[in-house]
Amino acid sequence: MRRELPARLSDMIDTHCHLSSSQFDPDREAVIGRAFEAGLAAIVEVGYSLEKSRRARTLAARPDIFATAGIHPHEAGRFREQDFEEIERLARLGGTVAIGETGLDFYRDFAPADAQRTLFRRHIALALETSLPLVIHTRAASDEMIATLRETGAGRAGGSLHAFHGDPAFARGGIALGFHIGIGGGLVKDPARLRASLEGLPLERLLLETDAPYLSPPGAARRNEPANILLIARALAVALGRDVEEISRITDENARRLFRLPGAS
Ligand code: NI
Repeated sequence: MRRELPARLSDMIDTHCHLSSSQFDPDREAVIGRAFEAGLAAIVEVGYSLEKSRRARTLAARPDIFATAGIHPHEAGRFREQDFEEIERLARLGGTVAIGETGLDFYRDFAPADAQRTLFRRHIALALETSLPLVIHTRAASDEMIATLRETGAGRAGGSLHAFHGDPAFARGGIALGFHIGIGGGLVKDPARLRASLEGLPLERLLLETDAPYLSPPGAARRNEPANILLIARALAVALGRDVEEISRITDENARRLFRLPGAS
């Protein structure tokens, strides 16, 4: 049988993963090795607590891994004030490519809504101050997310609306404000929904992401890893009726431009 999926593509970027997760403790180097063997050009390692943001910077000692700094909304009720001050310091150090993961999650009850709102706005202010893009998590908060981004002028910083769930109105709202949409394993599980949700969206605003070790795409092991970006690229190409090489090239350019990675045009 002819393989639909090339064994290797060049120039794909995983714009959202968590290599610092303890799920990778047994074999992190092997996971990273497989990613670059599979043809990834770069990985954006997303911090979601002070500790994980520090780990991200350590991982970013490699020239092809880039770090973000932020505190996840799930942590909004219990982080320490000095943790956010340290995030601010990391953001200004240079070598940090984005602020986040930050956002609003009203689906799970891990942190009080008001604490999430306050922490999210502090991340937005930091992004605007440092001129770094945001990496944004949204769950069960679409309307408030768009309203907050509009009201705060966060579009001047821009960023990724990560783990897009397939609501076209949310995507259009975010794109109109200057944001990019992160396409990952959660959405590619449902090709019909993926196709419908992308209709009319500009390709120049789409990003590939795994969110590894979470949200494994169909056909992959339960623990997701950056090498699976191939599966995401392929699902996106099929949904859009494009060549996977073209999807890979365009999303690579989008990621480089947004995060100002080497080779950005
Ligand atoms: Ni994440």
